[in-house]
Amino acid sequence: MLSYQHGYHAGNFADVHKHTALCQIIDHFKDHKKVVTFIDSHSGRGFYDLCGEQAEKTGEWKDGYARLSDQTVSNPELKRYCDAIKTFQNTHEGLTYPGSPALTQQQMQDNQRAVFFELHPTEFETLQENLKGDQRLRFVHKDAQYHLIDFLPNRQADGLLLIDPSYEIKEDYNTIAKLANACHKRWKAGIIMIWYPLLPEGRHEDLKKGLKNATFYELIGPEKERGMYGTGLALINAPADFDARFKLSENAMKNYLFSS
Ligand SMILES: C[S@@+](CC[C@H](N)C(=O)[O-])C[C@H]1O[C@@H](n2cnc3c(N)ncnc32)[C@H](O)[C@@H]1O
Repeated sequence: MLSYQHGYHAGNFADVHKHTALCQIIDHFKDHKKVVTFIDSHSGRGFYDLCGEQAEKTGEWKDGYARLSDQTVSNPELKRYCDAIKTFQNTHEGLTYPGSPALTQQQMQDNQRAVFFELHPTEFETLQENLKGDQRLRFVHKDAQYHLIDFLPNRQADGLLLIDPSYEIKEDYNTIAKLANACHKRWKAGIIMIWYPLLPEGRHEDLKKGLKNATFYELIGPEKERGMYGTGLALINAPADFDARFKLSENAMKNYLFSS
């Protein structure tokens, strides 16, 4: 089933949380001399038109990135994220929001490489078109569930695997935990970051129980009766200073996103 399209959700509060963490981890590798590999198992189309039909329909970004866009942000991690979005918007037409592939492309160094998986045919085509002409990038039109393992670098290589599925079927919470554990076993040194939604059904608990060696970060919004009330990230092998710095940025995020 491939009915999910990130265009409806781009720039929402979950993207602020996830993309701030992504920028922090890419920055961790900025002075690395060795080859660094970034892998995005569920990439989406690269970047999104915030004035387009999909974003207009939900307006989710207005309760997400829009709440930070005009603010003076002092927390260093959150500022890095905001600066990245502004830089992207200044170099693209209209009002755009970069997804994880465009942010990775923008922040990575010349000697680093990235692999982007996307299964949805039109999302894949648009992703390739949006990020074309960059020799550091490789695009894979395959099911990440079955083919991700084949694209991991050697056990001791440096890098990040972002696993950001759409959880369209409830079994995904178990299969993603198994996939992340298998990737960790095969790529011992790799940082793995898994996104999950907090929904009233509570299925994310299956994912959390199934994951080995992970630390969890959750941003909970104001109480609501339906839909996603919070967003989570599970980190395996995070850099030593990730925890303290990211928690400070989460506190800053809460102020901008959830205070009325
Ligand atoms: C949550 S979106 C990705 C958002 C993106 N990572 C970002 O932060 O900008 C999930 C994407 O995964 C794709 N997808 C779903 N199942 C997949 C699979 N088995 N393998 C690869 N891509 C898949 C969907 O088509 C969708 O574009």
